[in-house]
Amino acid sequence: MNSSYDFDAPVNWRSTGSDKWDSVAEGVIPLWVADMDFVSPPELTGVLSARASLPFYGYNKRRPAYLEAIAAWYRNQYGVSVDTEDILPGPGTVPSLGMAVRAFTKSGDGVLVMTPVYTPFFRVIRESGRKVVEAPMELDGGGRFVFDRAALERAASAAGGTIPLALFCSPHNPGGRVWAKEEIQSLLDFAQKRNMIVAADEIHGDFVYGGSFASGGSSVSGGGGPGFVSTASFPGYAGNVITVSGANKSFNLGGLHASHMVVRDKTLKAKLRSVLSTGAHHDPDIFAELAVETCYTKCAEWFAGLRLYIRKNLEAAAVFLNAIPGIKTWVPGGTYLLWADARGLIEKTGCENDGELVRRLEEEAKVKITGGSMYGKPGEGFVRINAASPRSLLMEGLGRLEAWAKNKP
Ligand SMILES: Cc1ncc(COP(=O)(O)O)c(C=O)c1O
Repeated sequence: MNSSYDFDAPVNWRSTGSDKWDSVAEGVIPLWVADMDFVSPPELTGVLSARASLPFYGYNKRRPAYLEAIAAWYRNQYGVSVDTEDILPGPGTVPSLGMAVRAFTKSGDGVLVMTPVYTPFFRVIRESGRKVVEAPMELDGGGRFVFDRAALERAASAAGGTIPLALFCSPHNPGGRVWAKEEIQSLLDFAQKRNMIVAADEIHGDFVYGGSFASGGSSVSGGGGPGFVSTASFPGYAGNVITVSGANKSFNLGGLHASHMVVRDKTLKAKLRSVLSTGAHHDPDIFAELAVETCYTKCAEWFAGLRLYIRKNLEAAAVFLNAIPGIKTWVPGGTYLLWADARGLIEKTGCENDGELVRRLEEEAKVKITGGSMYGKPGEGFVRINAASPRSLLMEGLGRLEAWAKNKP
């Protein structure tokens, strides 16, 4: 690997306008929002700096190489062939999900989500004047969330049998599940039978530790599991699926607000195009387009090194956390997020719930993590920890948590 990639390099994004760092008090280690603490690939900063020094920032004409780079990433990373005609650039993953809600449902309609799930799913549904229809998932003994078919059936019939849209998070934030092909197929089948469209948020799709990571040498349970299967690889369901993704997580480009959708069906594509154009989204801006293209064409090696580094972080963090009485966690199959059962610690420390636990950890232990109830009822008593930081920073943050927990009666 290129030796200039140093994922151990300490970073401190305080006072840079970083949401992750500047939203917490001085001295607090931020292990919350899903943003990474690594220096961007030098190949990327080189290209963006060169473009910034060109004193022309007028309207940009879409570069064919941008769409070709996305198609090549699908081919090389997921083994899926995508026609560039079927790629729609979007203004970010969450705004694109909001656009799907507006394109495929009308005011008052229900939109299905399997909980716990990434919190903005609830927001884009409610703020569009639609109703959240929840199908809670089950947690199996190995710390994995699994679809609850009966809950899905119940949710569908409670909504009068018609739910035009489901938002699906794959891989799963916060639980870290990488859904197996059969599970995705069963969901698509369920949707097709009910004329439901599935908008799949696959923004974490590059962070999977299956395949070559399967054994991992891990001394804690979890990890491994299936490789990533994109919903774009089920041609039989094209009329029921839109796939939303982007380079934002893999290359930490959240501040550039670019994403893309793969939509093979003409009718779905036309509806989305119309919502995109009335929402005034034409193309990513000059820097976003160039960044996505550069990451997908020049930074695959950086990403492969990063994923290996994060996988080791997840293992080290899981071993460490499991030694703290009252916490139980697992190495996730995907994402850079650890999902931990903190019910024992909540009880031991006299906290009322996960919300109080994370608040006290931030105020007293100076480490900020995320409470699980934010993601829906099945998340109550759990916490989510972002492991995408240099290992020394991550372990220092977890050390603070451990010391705090130890000092409680
Ligand atoms: C599942 C999921 N979707 C979407 C996003 C945000 O993506 P974007 O910045 O492209 O809107 C995140 C960020 O944490 C996420 O975890």
